[in-house]
Amino acid sequence: MHMLTLSQVSSGDAERDASRLRRLYSRYPTGVAAVCAVRDGQPVGIVATSFTPVSMEPALVSICVQHISTTWPQLSRDGHLGVSVLAEGHADMSRQLAAKNVDRFAGLTWFGSDSSALFLADAAAWLDCKIVSSITAGDHNVVLMEVKSAACDETVSPLIFHDSRFRSMLADDDRT
Ligand SMILES: Cc1cc2nc3c(=O)[nH]c(=O)nc-3n(C[C@H](O)[C@H](O)[C@H](O)COP(=O)(O)O)c2cc1C
Repeated sequence: MHMLTLSQVSSGDAERDASRLRRLYSRYPTGVAAVCAVRDGQPVGIVATSFTPVSMEPALVSICVQHISTTWPQLSRDGHLGVSVLAEGHADMSRQLAAKNVDRFAGLTWFGSDSSALFLADAAAWLDCKIVSSITAGDHNVVLMEVKSAACDETVSPLIFHDSRFRSMLADDDRT
């Protein structure tokens, strides 16, 4: 039997530990979700790679939100949020939606809903969600949301985030 050598997550050097943990987490590939709403007539949103489907009955999804987010208090205010699963080709849009001190929605095409959720055009899927609970988990909150209505475009490939880079998906069948 071969033994795998693992290092302690806490070595005592906080900066080094954080950078190693960041690299470790980035090994796990995810999609990219834009979580957006209209507040006081203005579009508001963030990008979250922590988006995860959670439950079928009831339909629940989750995102993890940093405590230091300055956008979240405004974004979560009335509990209704739009989740757009971003598509291949949306890397620049993701960077813009996550940037500080810019108009995150400049040049983007988006749609509002009656519930105040905001959806981005040309995404792979759209979920109209309502926050049902929020659990403190270290430096993030795990936010559970009930999916009230949804749509998807199965012809569109999702954007992938892996090793801190945006990537596109290649189906195993497409490999030569
Ligand atoms: C690829 C990517 C993934 C991100 N995922 C998350 C996430 O899962 N949770 C989160 O709270 N912020 C995440 N962020 C950060 C937010 O999108 C956004 O940049 C941040 O909330 C901006 O700060 P503000 O809330 O103070 O405006 C991510 C950013 C990028 C670029």
